[in-house]
Amino acid sequence: MIKRPKIAIVGAGGNVGAAVAQWAAQKELGELVLIDLKAGPAEGRALDLTQCGPWEGFNNKFTATDKPEAMAGADIVVMTAGVPRKPGQSREELIGINSGIVRDICANVKKYAPDAILIVVSNPLDAMVFVAKQVTGFPRERVIGSAGVLDSARFRTYISLATGASVEDIHAIVLGAHTDKDMVPITSTATIGGVPLAKFLSAEKLTEVVENTKKGGATLTGLIGTSAWLAPGAGTCLMVEAIVRDQGRVLPCSVELQGEFGVTGAFVGVPVKLTAKGAESVHEFDLSAAEKEAFAKSVAANTELMTIARGFLG
Ligand code: LAC
Repeated sequence: MIKRPKIAIVGAGGNVGAAVAQWAAQKELGELVLIDLKAGPAEGRALDLTQCGPWEGFNNKFTATDKPEAMAGADIVVMTAGVPRKPGQSREELIGINSGIVRDICANVKKYAPDAILIVVSNPLDAMVFVAKQVTGFPRERVIGSAGVLDSARFRTYISLATGASVEDIHAIVLGAHTDKDMVPITSTATIGGVPLAKFLSAEKLTEVVENTKKGGATLTGLIGTSAWLAPGAGTCLMVEAIVRDQGRVLPCSVELQGEFGVTGAFVGVPVKLTAKGAESVHEFDLSAAEKEAFAKSVAANTELMTIARGFLG
């Protein structure tokens, strides 16, 4: 029998996990295994999604369970487990509660799916990628954080709202930490239809777009009452697709820096080529002076969070 890629989503009873499953089902990316600490919500999400199939025309078969061993043999494990932030809360404040959750699940990933590519979505994102890398001992190619895709989608959206140009023609990325204060929307290389962004927006308007992007997650948390899930799910699924279909997409992802951008040992968003191997390569380029400074601050903030996270590793 020809094998479909096996994609295990941990925390699938929650909104982000369920959204990843939804986009993955629509794109028919593979066999989906929905895992959650609570079997009921995982089963409910799987059943709900299966019932979309007749109208949406997909034939995904789901497994739903509270058993971590169901991830055995997974090609990709998507980690969405953990507590989402509440209105007024920062992602960093979740470190105490989510570090232990992520640590324990990663021990299971190591045990049951030692060859998997692990995509981490739990917050505070970059510190959780560090925890995942430490616990699994996987090479950096196989431990990848999903946040830059989401932050870049928000950046492109705010640019579109400010200019009236189509989001599809806007090329703009966000690097650095996935935190409100330290993410780094890159304006120096942003273009619309190949034309530099600065040709469309005044410096004042550009600052407004950058600020809106940085607090994009907090804005949604305030409006919805919990953190967002549709765009986080879509961005994460894009990464899954790039790997499963060996597309070579170059997307901002959080990985361990091994000398790139002059940094070693920290985890922040950088341009990564995603192939069947996972994060096959990191691509450096020249940042503007202001971006360089912001990126350095981002790395310093991540280093502080990693020190806290290290306390949970025992
Ligand atoms: C956000 C959360 C998912 O930015 O980190 O919406």
